[in-house]
Amino acid sequence: MATPLRFRASAIGECFARQHSSRLPAQRSGAGRSGTRRHCSAITASRSTGVLNSRIGAARSGSLPFEELLAGAEAAAKLGSQVVLDALDKPRRIDYKGATDLVTDTDKKCELAVLQEIQRRFPDHLILGEEGGVIGNSSSDYLWCVDPLDGTTNFAHGYPSFAVSVAVLYKGRPAAATVVEFAGGPFCWVTRTFTSSSGGGAFCEGNPISVSNTDQVERSLLVTGFGYDHDEAWATNISLFKDFTDVSRGVRRLGAAAVDMCHVSLGIVEAYWEYRLKPWDMAAGVLMVEEAGGKVTKMDGGEFSVFDRSVLVSNGVIHPKLLDRISPATKTLVNQGLDFSQWYKPEGYSCN
Ligand code: IPD
Ligand code: CA
Ligand code: CA
Repeated sequence: MATPLRFRASAIGECFARQHSSRLPAQRSGAGRSGTRRHCSAITASRSTGVLNSRIGAARSGSLPFEELLAGAEAAAKLGSQVVLDALDKPRRIDYKGATDLVTDTDKKCELAVLQEIQRRFPDHLILGEEGGVIGNSSSDYLWCVDPLDGTTNFAHGYPSFAVSVAVLYKGRPAAATVVEFAGGPFCWVTRTFTSSSGGGAFCEGNPISVSNTDQVERSLLVTGFGYDHDEAWATNISLFKDFTDVSRGVRRLGAAAVDMCHVSLGIVEAYWEYRLKPWDMAAGVLMVEEAGGKVTKMDGGEFSVFDRSVLVSNGVIHPKLLDRISPATKTLVNQGLDFSQWYKPEGYSCN
């Protein structure tokens, strides 16, 4: 049996109308659960220090306050996680998107629950879901990125480390996010909920969290991931995995990008990187890391967007030392002509 933390009962509706078919081409808070009162001061402080441009989080949230977006992300993720909780330790129906790329009935049911809640609260927003593609209003400034089950392979095997990940972008930048992590394992499942909003800090179960301060690779525990497409970038990361295993305390490969990034936010690992992730894999996790005081860039060291094809997140202090190895390897791939252009940005969605 799972031990849900602060879940409330949910009802999953039977139908969900697709409006469009798929068109895919820190500061710490001292106390308090959501840190909602901190938004204005945190953003003002960032402006006064002139670091706003280097942040990946949204500087503004348009006509809706950050608090309202965060409340929506949290409610939607928790409804989705209730679907996952109900499916734990039960037989699953597994289909294949690729030779080893799985999708279960729970991925789809969970996405439906999450999307219904987002649409109920924000009917005029645009949504990008991993399983359903793009729905909603492409002229909206708000884009919700939903990974209903990050770490599907782990879920399918009953192996811990999977999550429901929900984030909302304002003009292309993460504004608010929630990740519900499933840990433990058969007969002792537990969940913990990570929340963040741009300028408002990062929280785990309502407690403010922050990245570690380890500044040596030799004293770091690192994490990476490998996608389903075994291209040149995948091969390069196998080499990076080997290199960093040689010089660090170890490189873990858990299999759920959102969870991996939350672990950086929590300060229990120093960094995480991966090529070829999609916006729904990254949007929530990158905001969590930045709001926990960490740094987010592309793997060549360049400025990051959730539509990019590589990500490196870290505690910040170790970032340059990791880039010493990761950036040249990535630039070699670029020079070889590997495609690093942005992807999965919904047609018509503007980041300006
Ligand atoms: C995957 C996980 C995995 C990562 C893959 C992702 P999925 O997401 O995040 O850790 O290595 O690149 O695709 O398919 O389980 O949602
Ligand atoms: Ca994923
Ligand atoms: Ca998924």
